[in-house]
Order: sequence, then structure tokens, then C-alpha cells
Amino acid sequence: MLAVDQKAKNEEMMAKINAGHKLESLEEITDEYKDSLLKLMIAQADSELAGAYGYVPWIEGAPNMPERLAMANIVKDEIRHARAMYDLLDKVGIDTDALIEAGMINRMKVFYEPIKTWADLVMFNFLMDRAAGHQLRDAAECSWGPWSRAMVQIEKEEWMHVRHGEHWVKRYAEDPAKNAEIQKALDFWFPKVNRVFGKSGSNTNKVFQKFRLKQRDNHDVRKSWYDEMKPILEGYGLKVPAIDVVEKD
Ligand SMILES: [Fe+2]
Ligand SMILES: [Fe+2]
Repeated sequence: MLAVDQKAKNEEMMAKINAGHKLESLEEITDEYKDSLLKLMIAQADSELAGAYGYVPWIEGAPNMPERLAMANIVKDEIRHARAMYDLLDKVGIDTDALIEAGMINRMKVFYEPIKTWADLVMFNFLMDRAAGHQLRDAAECSWGPWSRAMVQIEKEEWMHVRHGEHWVKRYAEDPAKNAEIQKALDFWFPKVNRVFGKSGSNTNKVFQKFRLKQRDNHDVRKSWYDEMKPILEGYGLKVPAIDVVEKD
């Protein structure tokens, strides 16, 4: 009986998705859709929170007072993004306090990497917040209405973080005393951020695309990130590594 219910529900749900409609309630979605939705939203929620924590030491570590305020604002943005994501999860019945308390076993590896210097920090802003911006483009167009609407403001703020990084990366790249340091930061972060998009052509991603929870293959998102940032960095005289297709995690 349950299988039959899911089948009928699936047909109705897919008809809405294929017609470009947003889904708004749990009654409209199948278990498979919900599993995919949770996987993606939990990953984003944790990344927002982990991102905030990674920036916290740089309120104190920033080179001057305006930059301490800029970093405090970025931390506030990321905590607000995390809260928005956990609120969305709460509304689909997840015990988010328990989720946070249990810690994230699937946290993205990039968030375990230490940000050791200001050059590392601004390159992380440049590469990683930009990666988030490109990934959020897909989320903003997704079939789950509440998530897609919440992404509009978050996406804008990620681009402000990118601009913050860009200002400093340019400044360091053009300073002969800092140029080697910023190139080193690029070489350190590049392969790590290249991997956050996930495997190219993965079957999981195909399911996300079928449900319009993602709009593009992982590698297409990675390529849009790469094609955008490469000429900017090369314009500053930095050497950009080749894109990696990531066939295995
Ligand atoms: Fe964020
Ligand atoms: Fe950000």
C-alpha cells in the first residue's frame, strides 16, 4: 500500500517539478525527494556554521580596526546563513539542536584546513565564498520553494565576502613584498576548493537534478567557478593551477 502511495505521489510531484512549479509542503514530496533535500540542506547548514567558526579567529587576527569590523560582519552573515538553513530543516521536522550537537560526520574537508595567515584568509574568501556563490545559484532555482527563496539574500552576501577577498588578493598580488605569499595561499587552497563541488558526473547528482534540487552537474558548477576566477587572478599576475575534474573523492 505504501509503495503504491509513493508511486502516485511521485507522479504528481514529478509533474509539478517538470512544469517548473515549486514544492511547498511535506505532503507534496516523496521519501526519496525528502532524503535528497535533507542531504543537501544539512550539508549547506553545516558549511555555513563551520565557515563562521573558521572566520572567528580573524576578528582578532585582522590587520586593522576596519578589518576587525569587516570580519565580525562576515561572521555575523555566516551565522545568519546557518540559522536560516537550520530553520528550514526545523520546518521539515529535523531536530536541529541534536543535529548540531552530534557534530557533522560529513563536514566538508575544506573546513578542517587551518587558516594560518591573513593571505590564507583573503584567498579563502576569494575562492571558497565564490564556490558557495556558484553553488547557491543552483539552490536559488531549486524546486523546494522555502529553500529557493531563502537563498536570494544569502547569495548576495556571499558575493560581498568574495569582494572582500578580491580587494586583498589584488593588493597582495601587486605588492612585491606580498606576492609570493598570496601565490602560496592560492596553491594551498586551490585543490581543496576545486574538490568541494564533488565528483563529476556522479549518480547522486543525477538524482538531485531529476528533482531539480540541483540544476547542473557538479563539474559544470566547478567550471563556472573556475572560468570566472582564473582571468581575475591571472590579471593580477598570479599563476592559476589547472582545473581538476575530480573523478574520485
Ligand atoms: Fe554563507
Ligand atoms: Fe561567505
